[in-house]
Amino acid sequence: MRIGVLGSGLMGGKLGSLFARAGHDVIFSYSRTRQKLEHLARDAGARAHVGTPAEAARDADALLLAVHWTRVDDVLAQAGTLTGKVLLTCSLPMSKDDTHLLIGHTTSGAEALAAKVRGAMWYPPSVRFPVRCWFRYSRDVERNRRRTWSFAETTKEQRRQPLI
Ligand SMILES: NC(=O)c1ccc[n+]([C@@H]2O[C@H](COP(=O)([O-])OP(=O)(O)OC[C@H]3O[C@@H](n4cnc5c(N)ncnc54)[C@H](OP(=O)(O)O)[C@@H]3O)[C@@H](O)[C@H]2O)c1
Repeated sequence: MRIGVLGSGLMGGKLGSLFARAGHDVIFSYSRTRQKLEHLARDAGARAHVGTPAEAARDADALLLAVHWTRVDDVLAQAGTLTGKVLLTCSLPMSKDDTHLLIGHTTSGAEALAAKVRGAMWYPPSVRFPVRCWFRYSRDVERNRRRTWSFAETTKEQRRQPLI
């Protein structure tokens, strides 16, 4: 599968690396420094590459949106037309200083995203755990040489163990 990563920070960088190591073709995009994207791609292996958001979106089977809520409109504009695309996201509708939810009292971030990109299929996974879970899970994956994983499996595994 070809997966474009829109936002390659803590979440996008780690999830994209897991996707690439699981055998998917991944394009990391949308960082303020291209060197960071190149470092991520090198680290994630031969299936990982670097591109612009538009390049990440082009021909992608699925896209991961992983930016702060304040950057959503910008990265979606750079990605171009996403009609018909499958979009996963961990982006939460938080205020600029991350102190409170901007959306979530009468509607949801997922509904706001769906309204921004009509005709796409959005999958906002239940991301309620911090990014350090992914770091530890990826270490487990490498240790056990496992080739496949899923959000549901990850959640279940992480629930069984304390974080620290
Ligand atoms: N971290 C967590 O544990 C966690 C858990 C659940 C959900 N989330 C949600 O997931 C989303 C992404 O979180 P994250 O922790 O991965 O964020 P992050 O580490 O800050 O990554 C955001 C990405 O957007 C990029 N970006 C490009 N232009 C930017 C600009 N002008 N200002 C700021 N960033 C810019 C960043 O670039 P650089 O590479 O240059 O920084 C980075 O690659 C957020 O909505 C967050 O609420 C996070």
